[in-house]
Amino acid sequence: MGKGMRVLLGVSGGIAAYKIPYLVRGLVKAHHEVRVVLTRHAREFVTPLTLETLSGFPVLTSLFEIHGSSMPHIEEPFRADLMVIAPATANIIGKIANGIADDLLSTMVLALDAPLLVVPAMNTRMYRHPAVQANLEILRKRGVHLLEPGTGELACGEEGPGRMAEVEEILRVLENLGLLKGPLRGKKLLVTAGPTVEPVDPVRVLTNRSSGKMGYAVAAEALRQGAEVMLISGPTCLPPPEGVDFVAVETAWEMQEAAEKHFPRYDVLIMTAAVGDYRVETPAKEKMKKGEASLTLHLVENPDILKSLAGRKRPDQFLVGFAAETGSLREKACRKFTAKGVDLLVANDVTEEGAGFGSDMNRVLILDRTGKVEETGLLPKSEIARRILGRIVDEAFPP
Ligand code: CTP
Repeated sequence: MGKGMRVLLGVSGGIAAYKIPYLVRGLVKAHHEVRVVLTRHAREFVTPLTLETLSGFPVLTSLFEIHGSSMPHIEEPFRADLMVIAPATANIIGKIANGIADDLLSTMVLALDAPLLVVPAMNTRMYRHPAVQANLEILRKRGVHLLEPGTGELACGEEGPGRMAEVEEILRVLENLGLLKGPLRGKKLLVTAGPTVEPVDPVRVLTNRSSGKMGYAVAAEALRQGAEVMLISGPTCLPPPEGVDFVAVETAWEMQEAAEKHFPRYDVLIMTAAVGDYRVETPAKEKMKKGEASLTLHLVENPDILKSLAGRKRPDQFLVGFAAETGSLREKACRKFTAKGVDLLVANDVTEEGAGFGSDMNRVLILDRTGKVEETGLLPKSEIARRILGRIVDEAFPP
């Protein structure tokens, strides 16, 4: 799913290797494919089984072990978008600074054509040794990214620089260096969310039960995956995700106006908003007074934003619709898919207990143009957002 980066992660033999499973987990969670290479000494600190389980791929340990590829020392660095060596001991730093290739990891570095981040970790006296400093200087001059070790108490009891940077910091540095390009980097996503609100008079409104949680989760996840995101939202209680271009609207007409204005600049429209289908034809200018036993409001149809944009989208634009249904979900979703002219339709049954409107969870069907229907289990909306964006990446931006 998705198009994460291929990260080749070299682990050499230092006590900080115990933190590496967390690094693998962080990278995998962000949709990156991680191939781990352990030196012989690293295997004393962290087991291949742990890293294999977390990365989902066999861990490479020896030049002479064959895992499908007959020449992993050349093929893996060739396939990698980036390489990280963490922890990097004085030994591996010395070897790569001087072109020594006497095991799988050091050999791979020589065959690497992608950016390399080295994260040193060692005893503070070793780190300060002129030989190590000279080797680090060689790497720096060669354009290798170095993440300086932290200062503090080391596993050996001494104080000083040498402690490996924390996993969060390694991930942050990779992000800041632009080395972890998200699968949606460079893409522009327009997301609508929340309910629309139609005035009846200055006091009363017609609206629906949408909380906006699904749309906000999609916007937040798209940002995390590197997209530029505009969120057009009806009134909700949610704070707009940081970094989003936010447009607040109330009525279906306002949402239509904003969507039409901005849509031409975007690659993808994800219409999670629960747009009210009708509005009061002429809202009262003053508060309506009670008096009659019954009251009839004359409603007129709102524009169908999704359908109208589907009718004029460019071939390079991708449209995702949502369907909120009550019962016979698959059948109604299939009908709506055709009626709306979308590329992907996400449908849910709003009557399901603990899912949908207002809930943090959802269970959806995802329909595509080939007629395939993917059924998710009951999942947090953030996870549903990841699934939807994964499908968008696969279908709208194939490699
Ligand atoms: N939608 C829209 N404009 C409308 C109504 C709906 O753009 N006036 C969009 C929604 O944002 C959603 C999709 O169309 O992506 C389906 O919305 P839904 O409320 O499930 O269906 P409706 O089109 O309103 O049809 P019905 O209410 O008859 O099921």
